[in-house]
Amino acid sequence: MATMALCVCCHPTCESGEWASATGLMRSSLRCGRPVATAACWSNAAGYQRVMECDLFVVRDRRRQGLGTHLLGCICEVTESEGRSLLVWSTFDTVPAGEAFARRLGARVARVNRTSEVQLADVDWTMVESWMREGPVRAPGYSLEMVDGVYPFERYADAVILHHIMQSAPRDDLDVDDVILGEDDIAEHDRALVEAGRQRWTVFVRDPSGVCVGGTEVTFEPWDPSTVLQQNTGIDPRHRGLGLAKWAKAAMLARIRSEQPQARRVRTGNAFSNAPMLAINDALGFKAIHTSNEWQAHAAAVRHALEPGADRPSRTSTTPALVREGDATISEVPVQDAP
Ligand SMILES: CC(C)(COP(=O)(O)OP(=O)(O)OC[C@H]1O[C@@H](n2cnc3c(N)ncnc32)[C@H](O)[C@@H]1OP(=O)(O)O)[C@@H](O)C(=O)NCCC(=O)NCCS
Repeated sequence: MATMALCVCCHPTCESGEWASATGLMRSSLRCGRPVATAACWSNAAGYQRVMECDLFVVRDRRRQGLGTHLLGCICEVTESEGRSLLVWSTFDTVPAGEAFARRLGARVARVNRTSEVQLADVDWTMVESWMREGPVRAPGYSLEMVDGVYPFERYADAVILHHIMQSAPRDDLDVDDVILGEDDIAEHDRALVEAGRQRWTVFVRDPSGVCVGGTEVTFEPWDPSTVLQQNTGIDPRHRGLGLAKWAKAAMLARIRSEQPQARRVRTGNAFSNAPMLAINDALGFKAIHTSNEWQAHAAAVRHALEPGADRPSRTSTTPALVREGDATISEVPVQDAP
């Protein structure tokens, strides 16, 4: 749920820190000229009551002029007025100014993540095929099912299970609670997927009784058809260590290779602490392309650090078509012959 978006424009008649809705942001940028800074914050209706996530960007040539401080002050105001207390945001190793700003506010790094990519031409396809063959041998009776596009209503419950399983991904020091999605949230997510023009393929993993015990999802973005985005992969803790994630990811990759000829690479993001996921991705040939820090800080402390003269901590330191509801297709993944 987006709570607010702000834009600062460089035109002299435009007041800095103009408030705008997400649509208004676009309009004010067009009216006023070059946007030089933006900020947004949002909270999650399905979880963590105390947390406000946020983004803040200032263009290079307008940094160190107080724009970031001004916009973050607005975010603190909204956060506290909503009764929330913890701010969470990310910085990227490619933009050191973000880290310097976060340290100056006294924020703490709570989780470190890597973004990694594998070029499909570099994948060891013999290994991928062996993971697909070994899957049903290591986990007899289990099966995979593909769902293309938005979930049909009868798969909402499985999508909810997959999202619940994802709550067991490592949070490290992030002081956030579970986000528990319901079937209404799945429908809303899917509406957003369609409105954004994205396509999604899901593999659900089922136990011998047919119950969903995990899955993996990828998305395709029409504006960058050569890059496939690997999203959630999760297996219920009671079914881990059976090769199910390797089987599901291998089946997905094999399908991307045969049915998405424009795809050149797969990109994903993982916490450095996620040993099982990194083990699978490293074996597939994913290589880190950049790292990011997730920071957290109490809004009251940030507001205090922003005050003039505050005693701050030291500075050291072929595109898939738009899918509409009803377009989803479901298919069972055939089991490969055992070697
Ligand atoms: C990551 C996850 C999907 C793996 O599921 P899984 O079905 O147990 O995985 P598999 O059995 O297919 O393969 C696990 C592989 O990871 C490696 N592995 C497992 N545990 C490991 C550990 N503690 N340290 C290092 N490597 C480990 C092994 O290589 C293993 O393969 P092997 O059994 O053939 O040797 C599962 O742990 C999970 O759901 N975690 C929570 C959700 C999550 O974090 N998802 C990723 C978010 S980015």
